[in-house]
Formats: sequence, structure tokens, C-alpha cells
Amino acid sequence: MTAEVTVRVPAKINLELSVGGPRPDGYHDLATVFHAVSLVDEIHATPADEVSVEVEGLQADQVPTDGRNLAVRAAVLLAERTGVEAGVRLRIRKGIPVAGGMAGGSADAAGALLACDALWRTGLSRDELSGLAAELGSDVPFSLVGGTAIGTGRGERLTPALARGEYHWVVALAEGGLSTPRVYARLDQLRAGRVLPEPEVSTRLMQALRSGDPVALAGALSNDLQPAACDLAPQLARTLELGRSAGALGGIVSGSGPTTVFLVRDAEQALDVSVALTASGAVRDVRRVRGPVPGARVVEPGRAAGIR
Ligand code: C5P
Repeated sequence: MTAEVTVRVPAKINLELSVGGPRPDGYHDLATVFHAVSLVDEIHATPADEVSVEVEGLQADQVPTDGRNLAVRAAVLLAERTGVEAGVRLRIRKGIPVAGGMAGGSADAAGALLACDALWRTGLSRDELSGLAAELGSDVPFSLVGGTAIGTGRGERLTPALARGEYHWVVALAEGGLSTPRVYARLDQLRAGRVLPEPEVSTRLMQALRSGDPVALAGALSNDLQPAACDLAPQLARTLELGRSAGALGGIVSGSGPTTVFLVRDAEQALDVSVALTASGAVRDVRRVRGPVPGARVVEPGRAAGIR
């Protein structure tokens, strides 16, 4: 057995999130474009008799460390399905906001799957890992692959998107978190009685991604969950307005929120928008990130950021 493994996993944003009506199983059919950005969690795995987890870093105190922890659930699921009897000691260093709409929990599940797979040498294929990922959560398969990809079904069915170039984003972290089920439920209330079209990804967005033009991409960003997130967290509307008036090309609530993300022209404009958002006092913190970046990756020993 390998002595220790560290995996780095990115956050995601949804460049487009088109949501259909509620399904009998409580989920919603989606058509979305996932985009992985350079805000990461690190998952460090060492051999142990039991499965346990410790969490440090951003909002670590808000992450459960019992059986509800998605990384723990991932390790237990992988052991069950592969007949592994060993445990694992997981240590997570959070860089992705908790309950922020950036798939932080999903990233930890994907990271734990990959780390335990390497530690236990299960020999599962990427497809088999992706199947387990989908059982753990709708966004977990994307956290494994990263890049830019179209998600359908509940978000777990992925096809790579043709995308050119690199984009600069400013991520505005909000106070507190939003519960994803609550945001979906609010959306259902806001749209009650309406006949909803099939969710689909717009041609405009796909063309913008192929062109690599951030101005075109900014004009095509959209999120059906945004009105519901802004209804539950009214300060988000002001944050979006502040980012745009500071010069961002476009701004959007990330997934179910309350994190907001702003597309900017370049690193210089990212700095301007970050400074303006910080000075406004409307946000908890800001991060300047780039996308797309790869999904969950084993990090060479000695290159992990903080966990030892
Ligand atoms: O799949 P995951 O556990 O991440 O989903 C969390 C919650 O988000 C679900 O229980 C559901 O309420 C909502 N959801 C949804 N439709 C999706 C994905 C998530 O309604 N496609």
C-alpha cells in the first residue's frame, strides 16, 4: 500500500445553468456548462484502520467530520464496492467556500475517491470512479474531470465543451452559506404554475466559448437559480451591481450561491474589481482565479500546499 497521497481538486462555477421542473425523485433536470477554476481544496490521505477526517483552512469549522462528510462517504463507498478492508485518515485543507455554490463538498468527495483509489490501488477505471462519483452527488463527476464541460441529467452526465482560451474571474465570498435544496425549492415556488421548456445550453454560450472572447462570454452567462438565490440572500443583487459598476464584463451567482463570480478582461481588471468589492464592505472576501483548470489530480510528494 502507498504511504500517503495528496490530491488537489478545483472549485466549479456554472457558466450557464438551465433548470427544468422538479422530477419525481426530488431532483431537477439540468443543462449546464461547468467550468473549473483555480480555487482548490487539498485532500491528504494516509493509511489507517478506520475512516476519519480532519478539516482545516477556510470555514473549516462549518464542515461536518462525521459520516455526513462527503469525503468520508466517498472513502466508505469506494471500500465497500472494491472489497477493501483498510481505513484511511483524510485531512482536508479548504480553499473552496463551504455551502457557497462552488461544489466544495463535491470537490472533497472527488478528491477522497481519487486519493483512496491511489492509496488502496483499487485499479478502478476513470469510468468506474465516475459512476461512484455520481452516486455521491450531482457535481462530483465534474470535480473529477474539470476543464469546461456540459452537464445534463442532474448534472452528472458530462460531455467536454469545445472552449478556447483562459478566463480571469473575481470570486466574491459572501457571509454565510445557502442550502442547495432550499434554493431549488425557492425556484420551484417562484416558477409555480409556469410551463417550463426543456433545459438547454444556449448556442450563444457555446459560440462564445469557441471564440475565446471574454466579452462574448460575459454576455452569455446565465443562471436560472440566480433569482431564487437573490430572493433568499437579497444582498447578492447589490454585490452583482457593485462588481459590474467596478468594470467587470459580467457577473453571476455561482450555482446555488451565495458566492458571486465576475468575469474580467485580464489580471489587471481583476485587481480593480477585487479592490472595489473589498472596499465596499459588501463581501466577506475576494479571490482572483483563472479557468479552466484540470479536475482532481494527485500532487507529487513535496508539492502539496499546507498539509503534512
Ligand atoms: O446531488 P447533490 O447531493 O449535490 O444535490 C443536492 C440537492 O440539490 C439535492 O438534494 C436537490 O435538492 C438539489 N438538486 C436538484 N437538482 C439537481 C441537483 C441538485 O434539485 N440536478
